[in-house]
Amino acid sequence: MGASPPLRHVAFIMDGNGRWAKARGKLRTSGHRAGAETVRRVVRHAGNLGIPYLTLYAFSTENWSRPRVEVEALMRLIERFLRTETPELNANGVRLVAIGDVDRLPGKVRRSLDGAIAATRGNERLTLALALNYGGRDEIVRAARKAAEQLVLDGQGVDGLTAESIARCLDAPDMPNPDLVVRTAGEMRLSNFLIWQAAYAELYWSAKTWPEFGEADFDAAVAEYDRRVRKFGGGNPSDSDTARLREYAGRGLKL
Ligand code: IPE
Ligand code: IPE
Ligand code: MG
Repeated sequence: MGASPPLRHVAFIMDGNGRWAKARGKLRTSGHRAGAETVRRVVRHAGNLGIPYLTLYAFSTENWSRPRVEVEALMRLIERFLRTETPELNANGVRLVAIGDVDRLPGKVRRSLDGAIAATRGNERLTLALALNYGGRDEIVRAARKAAEQLVLDGQGVDGLTAESIARCLDAPDMPNPDLVVRTAGEMRLSNFLIWQAAYAELYWSAKTWPEFGEADFDAAVAEYDRRVRKFGGGNPSDSDTARLREYAGRGLKL
């Protein structure tokens, strides 16, 4: 009964792999392996729920500062996922895209990424954006540079740099902004994720770690989204006073 627009894009900050492993006396890397299972589960469930866009934060620009062995293990896991998951993605009608500065990924990861993107290009049920070497500030800087370069080419001044011209140069300009950002493992921060696009997203925090996050938890996040009232700065759309004031204005009346 919420007044929210339909849920088109859910973005996940997949957090808590390390804590999941630690609580079980395992290495952090086994937490990341368990997390890959949740990726499969969440992608499948998003398709079943009819959600057309999904973004998963897989590796941040800041994650390079983790211990080298952990970074290498993550890169291996991501590479294997991209190399082996294509049949499953195709079976579920998933088109894979990437956001982030992917040119700086190791060559092997980059090649598997390009292969998976090419192999799933024709799918239309769900667009899955993997955020790899992704940082919101980095994306905005790269987009602003591109937009500025275009201005120079067009011989225009800085006034031509607008929110729209920058947004057109973001990594996935055709994706709608996320309606809902879900972060697992109880942390309440964005950690440089989609800071431009999530300006008006609804935020949802789950206490479950990413490897524990299941279909019922996804359903709970969606149900919570449906209860939210999104206002976009314009007041409550279903509030009778707001509606009356708009009507007055429409009739040229003043208070
Ligand atoms: C998320 O789990 C995975 C990535 C950031 C790649 P973490 O590795 O951040 O897990 P915690 O936060 O240490 O529990
Ligand atoms: C955010 O998680 C990055 C990803 C999920 C890929 P982190 O675990 O790296 O974030 P912080 O360090 O807790 O903010
Ligand atoms: Mg973490």
